[in-house]
Formats: sequence, structure tokens, C-alpha cells
Amino acid sequence: MGLGWAGQQHLEAYAARPDVQVVALAGLEADLLASLGTAHGARHLVARWQDLLDVEGLQAVSIAVPTALHAPIAVAALQRGLHVLCEKPIARDAPEAATMVEAARTAGRVLDVVFNHRQRGDVQALRQLVASGELGRPYAARAWWLRRRGIPMLGSWFTNAEASGGGPLVDIGVHCLDWALHVLGEPRVVAASAVTFSELGPRGLGGSRGGSKSLTGAASAYEVEDLAHAFLRLEGGGLLQLETSWAMFRETEDQLGMTVTGTDGGAELVVRGAPAPVGDLRVFTDSPLTADGEAADRTVPVRPGRGHAAVVDAFVGVVRGDPSAWKDHDGSLALDRARVIDACYASARQNREVVL
Ligand SMILES: NC(=O)c1ccc[n+]([C@@H]2O[C@H](COP(=O)([O-])OP(=O)(O)OC[C@H]3O[C@@H](n4cnc5c(N)ncnc54)[C@H](O)[C@@H]3O)[C@@H](O)[C@H]2O)c1
Repeated sequence: MGLGWAGQQHLEAYAARPDVQVVALAGLEADLLASLGTAHGARHLVARWQDLLDVEGLQAVSIAVPTALHAPIAVAALQRGLHVLCEKPIARDAPEAATMVEAARTAGRVLDVVFNHRQRGDVQALRQLVASGELGRPYAARAWWLRRRGIPMLGSWFTNAEASGGGPLVDIGVHCLDWALHVLGEPRVVAASAVTFSELGPRGLGGSRGGSKSLTGAASAYEVEDLAHAFLRLEGGGLLQLETSWAMFRETEDQLGMTVTGTDGGAELVVRGAPAPVGDLRVFTDSPLTADGEAADRTVPVRPGRGHAAVVDAFVGVVRGDPSAWKDHDGSLALDRARVIDACYASARQNREVVL
């Protein structure tokens, strides 16, 4: 469900698998629905998501529609015994996400959430570096995704608080949070302190794709933040800083990245022109010092990852695999991410640190 950029990533990934048949598509753009339907051989083409769920023969649904619809669709699908692959963020906030996790547990079906950026080859390489122990104990990290003019569809559902749940923090910040905690080995976030700004969007500045052509939430006022900084305390005393913008005055090229500072070394991943397929991953260490007594810094070769294709393959693998593993795919990791994002928004609103 959903025919935008995200929905089309799902479709391409399913199409690459000979063992999966796309039975039905839902979306409001009639021409696009017809052309994607033809391209993928989908027999049932419907506008509204409600009309898709009762199509005969469905085993699973992909949800790639505006965020406010994630929970109602996922809960309805799970209650019908369908497996669900849902786009990030899991929902607008954690209470909504919790209803989805509950529905997955009750139905005994899979609820996976798309975190495609942790599938990047460079992020995987950074994770392996940390896991190898070469950096020692990681104690301070920073993850960012910064855009100069990157408000998605200025004036669309993205900028409508009711439809989206927030701005860059919940949209691309949740990617940063996910890949950073994944790289660090899933430490628990124990407290959040955040500040959000909304300086350019309300003035009609910083839009990435001109005006909105979206049929959902059209002509919305700019109601969400355009820049967010968060300071997250991690269990065991570590720190993760997040910085995320849809719009701010900075160099033109979008950038995402992460630094990890450990007791025996550090690493820095910088992806210029984000989300370019590969970034530069550098390692800073004194072990061993070179013959000249210089630091043994080096660049790590990285490969592109498979993004949505990897996520879809993993989802299909779980659905087709041993049903006893389904309970481990109930969306609870994405719910944890939502709780952290909620704590950041609460901190920004209340002007204080929020304990999780
Ligand atoms: N993982 C990623 O990298 C990534 C990237 C972009 C977007 N997303 C997520 O994917 C979701 C969709 O984003 P997008 O950029 O593709 O949005 P979009 O606005 O381009 O597309 C939304 C689609 O949902 C459809 N839709 C809206 N209301 C509907 C309804 N009632 N019934 C059926 N279909 C309906 C629209 O017709 C449209 O086809 C969002 O949750 C977003 O956060 C994820």
C-alpha cells in the first residue's frame, strides 16, 4: 500500500523475488496505480487501503503510506492474520506503535519495520569494526543526517503534524537513532535532552521537491520542526548525540554520518550527497604505531548495501521460515525507537531532560 518512493522500493524488492507474487496494490494516484499494476501483474488495484485487506490470497502486506495510517492499517491487517512489513517510523508516537506490537503478539504474526539504512554496507562495516573490539569500549558517539533544502514535499502530509507525527527527528532522525544504536550493540537509552527548531519551513524555505503534488494532506501549513539536536544518555554511561535537519543554512550537499569514540580507537563515517550508496569510513588508532611513531589511521573499504531489498528479503525469509521465530518479529525494536523519539520531543517541549 502506497505508491510513493517508499512503496516503489518495496515493489521492486518483491519483484526481484521469483517466489513472491504481488497480488494487489493500493494508492490514490490512479495513473500510477494503473502503470505499477501492469508492471507488476497485480490483479487487484484499489484506491483506499481498506479495500485491499480482504483480497483473497493475501499473506502479507507492505505499508508505505503517510505515517498516521501505519497503525490503523497494521492493526487491521494483523487482526486478519496477515503479516506486515511497515515503513519507518513505525507510527507517529510510541502509544500508537504499542497498539501495533500488541496486535502482532495477539495475532501471532510478523510485524517488521523498515530500517533500511542499517543495511548500508558502510554502516555494516562500522558495526563490525565496533563489534571486533578494535576501538575498545565505545563511550561517545554522534550520528547525523543534515539537509540544506530537504523538506519532503513542502506543504504535504510530511509537514502536517497530525499526519506525520513530526519533522526530521521522527522522519530521518529515527534512521540515525536506529543505525547508531545498531552499530553500538543496542545499548539502552536512559535519558534524552533535545532542542527542536522551526525557522525555515514556516517561511516556505527549504523545500526539496518544489510544491506538493501529493494527494494526501495537501496544502498543509508547516507545523513541525526543521532542525533537531538530541543528547542521549546510554546505559553504562555512554553518550549518543543526534543531529538532524530537513532545512538549515549549511553546505548544499546533504550529509549523513556517524562518529564512534572508543577507549582504543575512533571511527568516522561520512556520506556526502546523502543518501549516496557509499561513504568514507576512517579509523583512528595508535595500535600499532607506524615505524615513524605516527598514528595508524586508515580508510576502510566499503561496499554499497542492499537497502530495501535486504529488508524485504529478510521479511519474506521470516514469514516463510519457522513460525516459532515470528514472535521475535513483533515490532518491539521499532517501538523502543519510538519511545526515544517521543522522549526527545517531550524534552524539547518541556525544556528539560526526560528519563526513559
Ligand atoms: N525507509 C525509507 O528510506 C523511507 C523513505 C521515504 C519514505 N519513507 C516512509 O514511507 C512512508 C510513505 O512515504 P512516501 O515518501 O512514499 O510518501 P508519498 O506521499 O510519496 O506516498 C504516499 C502514498 O500513500 C498513498 N495513500 C495515502 N492515503 C492512502 C489511503 N487512504 N489508502 C491508500 N493509499 C493511500 C498515496 O496515494 C501515496 O501513493 C512514510 O511513512 C515515510 O516515512 C521511508
